[in-house]
Amino acid sequence: MKKTHILKTLWLLFVVLVLFVSCRGDDQPVGAGDTSAPGINADYLNAELSADERAVILLEQMELRDKVGQMTQVARDYLKSTDDIRTYRLGSILSGGGSAPEPNTVAVWRDMTNEMQDQALATLLAIPLIYGSDSVHGHGNLKDAVIFPHHIGLGAGNNPALVFELAVLNAKETAATGVKWNFSPCLTVPQDIRWGRTYEGFSSDPDIVSTLGKAETLGLQSGWNSSSTMLATLKHFVADGGTEGGVDRGDAKLSDQELADIHLYPYLASLEAGAGSVMVSYSSINGLAMHANGELINDCLKTTLEFDGFVVSDWAALKELPGDAKQQIATAINAGIDMVMVPDNYVSFIQDLTQLIEAGTIPMERIDDAVTRILRTKFAMGLFEYPYADPELENAVGSDEHRALARQAVAESLVLLKNDGILPLKAGQRVLVYGSYADDIGIQSGGWTLRWQGKPGNDNEGISVVEAFVGELGAENVRHVTTLDVLQQQDLDAFDLIVFVTGERPYAEMQGDKPRPGLPQAHLTTFEEIRATGLPVLSIILSGRPVLLGEVATSDALVAAWLPGTEGNGITDVLFGYVQFRGRLPFAWPKDEAGFIQGQEDAGYLYPLGYGLEL
Ligand code: BGC
Ligand code: BGC
Repeated sequence: MKKTHILKTLWLLFVVLVLFVSCRGDDQPVGAGDTSAPGINADYLNAELSADERAVILLEQMELRDKVGQMTQVARDYLKSTDDIRTYRLGSILSGGGSAPEPNTVAVWRDMTNEMQDQALATLLAIPLIYGSDSVHGHGNLKDAVIFPHHIGLGAGNNPALVFELAVLNAKETAATGVKWNFSPCLTVPQDIRWGRTYEGFSSDPDIVSTLGKAETLGLQSGWNSSSTMLATLKHFVADGGTEGGVDRGDAKLSDQELADIHLYPYLASLEAGAGSVMVSYSSINGLAMHANGELINDCLKTTLEFDGFVVSDWAALKELPGDAKQQIATAINAGIDMVMVPDNYVSFIQDLTQLIEAGTIPMERIDDAVTRILRTKFAMGLFEYPYADPELENAVGSDEHRALARQAVAESLVLLKNDGILPLKAGQRVLVYGSYADDIGIQSGGWTLRWQGKPGNDNEGISVVEAFVGELGAENVRHVTTLDVLQQQDLDAFDLIVFVTGERPYAEMQGDKPRPGLPQAHLTTFEEIRATGLPVLSIILSGRPVLLGEVATSDALVAAWLPGTEGNGITDVLFGYVQFRGRLPFAWPKDEAGFIQGQEDAGYLYPLGYGLEL
């Protein structure tokens, strides 16, 4: 009796011990990790060692599932429970366009990302996760962040020092929410303005893209090893802007020379500046999908150009490759992709990837290389030391200082296309501002702002064009209308000029492709009525690219304002002559269809690349 009792007790102890040892990784208390557990070499936590050394020490202690987890990026909307971060050892989470917690405040973002980080740090090896988002012109997914001009406007301003400062601003506002990976700068060199992502490119001129891309990379990553640490992403590798007809995710038919001189060229400076990640393009080159292009990812980017950061796929891009899910994964990882933006069915992705490794379809060396790159980057940027959102950074979000910098960027981005003597405007003038776009921060901001495709309306804090005019002239001298029907002739006589605000409604990838980029038909009709008043007309164009102007080209003055973002008073700063016009066209402006394609000698351009008047 007694003997069996002892045996039973011993057996129970044994079972408990086995369970304890085998489950160590799964059941750590949240936030604890267990890097002090017996058998763990915690030297990788020593920040005195180099990122390379730390990655080696950590990698050799990782199980296959730790490695697979590091290579998996899941969108927050698809994460079934926060616990899954710990269970599957996920290495990265992202917010897609418009994906934000409710209510959309810094504090709620911070709680969300910190809670996710708790889960990541509760795994045995306590590897922090990296949270990504598209802060392509400020933290577009965060309500009331400062939104500065989209790249196209910064390309017009072409001031690398300012682009650097904006990137620092951006890193702080983004990191305040625990997002430490920005899918920017987009280094695309758009060659056809029918493409809906034209505005994500600084210019059709590779030199401008190169200079400003480098400045943005340096600015974003300037806070490495501090709480505003931010990982930059060069995208979309490569030739996303070279597709035939400007079709999003299309095929670029290119000679090696064109590929090198136009599309690959801007990567060189940003890689040299130390960009830590590169995102692969949905598009293909001469029929081969970039996500399957080992020659460009493995050989060119990693070997020839000696890129030692990591390569991430685009959103669900593997699903566009030939074959079944497993073949798609094998193709992409063997081509050199290190982390997959899955972003949805991560459980089956993890299963598939694990089986492919076990079967030897993807060699272990490839996996170790991928994971080493991810870990090395996480170490180099200081993510292990600064895994959480720093509450101190909240003060930076939407600060006066940031708004002032964005306002300066707006002022520098404006291109004066035409001026028949009505600019600069003067104090005391009475102005009739026409059009709904004149009072719409959403339209000023364009795509990738609060929603994936952007959204008209005044959801974000900011200053609209009308508000900027009121600020300048006083409410008594500014009237805003969206139809002339409300005005009598004697009303009209009271104004010195009409400011006509027109352009494009917000759009982003795919939906922004247009066979004939132009102004809305209703605006063109309106313009004739405006013209008929006989008052001088200043037209301000809010657009993501040069557009066909029709009769609007006959305005007395014409200003291209691109997608300026939240600080509309940067526009009046220039119109009233406090800041000089200095913007130059970053793309040639078409006169007709022939002018959609950039870089042609004798095309039908209304204004060439580099054009811009001064006052
Ligand atoms: C876009 C990328 C973006 C990613 C995450 C993709 O559809 O092409 O530019 O970074 O989504 O939102
Ligand atoms: C996401 C974007 C993503 C896109 C790709 C959207 O639902 O919000 O971030 O780029 O899908 O198709």
